[in-house]
Amino acid sequence: MRGDFSSIYAGRTVLVTGHSGFKGSWLALWLEQLGAKVVGFALPPPTVPAHIDLLELNLVSIEGDVRDHSRLARVIDEVEPEIVFHLAAQPLVRQSCMDPVETYATNVLGTVHLMESCRRTTSVRAIVNVTTDKCYENREWVWGYRESDPLGGHDPYSSSKACSEIVSAAYRTSFFHPDEYGKSHQCLVATARAGNVIGGGDWAEDRLIPDIVRALEREESLVIRSPGATRPWQHVLEPLSGYLLLGQRLLEERPEFAQAWNFGPDEAVIADVQTLVRALEQHWPSLCVKIDPSQANIHEAGLLKLDSSRAHALLGWRSRWDLDETVRRTARWYRRYLEQGQVTSLADLQDYSSKLQDC
Ligand SMILES: NC(=O)c1ccc[n+]([C@@H]2O[C@H](COP(=O)([O-])OP(=O)(O)OC[C@H]3O[C@@H](n4cnc5c(N)ncnc54)[C@H](O)[C@@H]3O)[C@@H](O)[C@H]2O)c1
Repeated sequence: MRGDFSSIYAGRTVLVTGHSGFKGSWLALWLEQLGAKVVGFALPPPTVPAHIDLLELNLVSIEGDVRDHSRLARVIDEVEPEIVFHLAAQPLVRQSCMDPVETYATNVLGTVHLMESCRRTTSVRAIVNVTTDKCYENREWVWGYRESDPLGGHDPYSSSKACSEIVSAAYRTSFFHPDEYGKSHQCLVATARAGNVIGGGDWAEDRLIPDIVRALEREESLVIRSPGATRPWQHVLEPLSGYLLLGQRLLEERPEFAQAWNFGPDEAVIADVQTLVRALEQHWPSLCVKIDPSQANIHEAGLLKLDSSRAHALLGWRSRWDLDETVRRTARWYRRYLEQGQVTSLADLQDYSSKLQDC
């Protein structure tokens, strides 16, 4: 797999914040396969089981809190990473409504602490801050949101991620300006916005696939109450390939890539919950998911869709797996884990990587 991303990550020290979580653990696996020296910085895994523990990686795992500025700064000074992928966050909408202060402290001040720690060190040459499609002001329209559209967010999680974008933009303008790269500083900052990801190894609360898996383990049936809710489903490897591609461009010293990027799914992967559940059942017949009949024909308004034209045109990024493949991989991952105790993440990654070679 070392040929991917022009071998740019091989031998480099890469800091992944939030490596103990769902997306961060997949990213750590991928970077390790690419030959990077991966260092993770995060709170303990947010779930039991945790994907990161199942992977048995060789990374250096540092337990720490992004709200603790001095500790984060010390770690970055000692580790001397060349690139940082910032994924540590409180990522759940419901939790953000229960504890907005914790969410803003982690997602906004955590970003400030990261940017400031990188500003105070000389090793970091690239930062990719992972935010979300929810950072846009939702105008309830049918078109995809572009990177230049206004930021917003009705709930604390969404608005905290919009704030994280604003913090990144301010640091980019004030301290890491692309025009000043190589003159007054040596660091390029980009942000990455993606939507709902699925795939094996997620056990977070309030997410559809983990809820279905938990119900199955308890031998209960799960009643879906919002079957018409439409979401831009993506396999977790899809946006991660975008983050890695973006990181590659920054490490190649291309200041024009130091900006915000959307990594949304193709139109065909945007489906309602009912369609996703039915597709999942095709690959996992023992699932017991019921659709609340009173809600079955109600379709939710206000889908927030990303326009990823810029990533397609300038980064050459695109989705590789359609809805069926995404769902098949996800079902297979959980089935193998629950039925045979196997973890198939590396096999998924190898298959996905071989798709990246296809034009
Ligand atoms: N999962 C999705 O569908 C999705 C969609 C869009 C954006 N995102 C973004 O991707 C990133 C990763 O999300 P995820 O789904 O893997 O979440 P997750 O909950 O699985 O992982 C979150 C990670 O952040 C760490 N963390 C939380 N608070 C911390 C703190 N105060 N200090 C240090 N580490 C802390 C956790 O320990 C964990 O490693 C987040 O920034 C999230 O907003 C996720």
